[in-house]
Amino acid sequence: HTILLLNGPNLNLLGTREPEIYGHNTLADVEQLCRETAASLGFELRAVQSNHEGVLIDAIHEARTTAAGIVMNPGAFTHTSVALADAISGVQLPTIEVHISNVHQREAFRHHSFISPVASSIIVGAGVNGYKLAVQQLAHLLGR
Ligand code: DQA
Repeated sequence: HTILLLNGPNLNLLGTREPEIYGHNTLADVEQLCRETAASLGFELRAVQSNHEGVLIDAIHEARTTAAGIVMNPGAFTHTSVALADAISGVQLPTIEVHISNVHQREAFRHHSFISPVASSIIVGAGVNGYKLAVQQLAHLLGR
């Protein structure tokens, strides 16, 4: 039983990128938090971060046969990518969409998500703890 944790563009900069918005935890901290949460619920975690849309799409396709579900922060691709949304629809895996910040408190262009209509659940504005909540929710949907 594997959970795929997918982080999109610029999330490799977590911890140093706009810390007043995204906090001081690094991507490594996030991956560790998710790995521990997943392990406590009986899942393994595979973590992928990419700044490239196609790499994220390939990772989603690969998950079709290698993972039980996906936790994804698509970064700015949230607001632009029909292709990522189609990939999620295409693989039919339960997917939890996570945003560290409360996107609805921010610029209008962050209020629309192409991913939300295909996500099983959405966690927004809970900071890095949102990733933990997302793993727990995914495990819940998967019957744990
Ligand atoms: C984000 C919100 C997006 O609008 C932004 O482009 C990001 C991060 C978040 O986690 O709050 O890169 O997905």
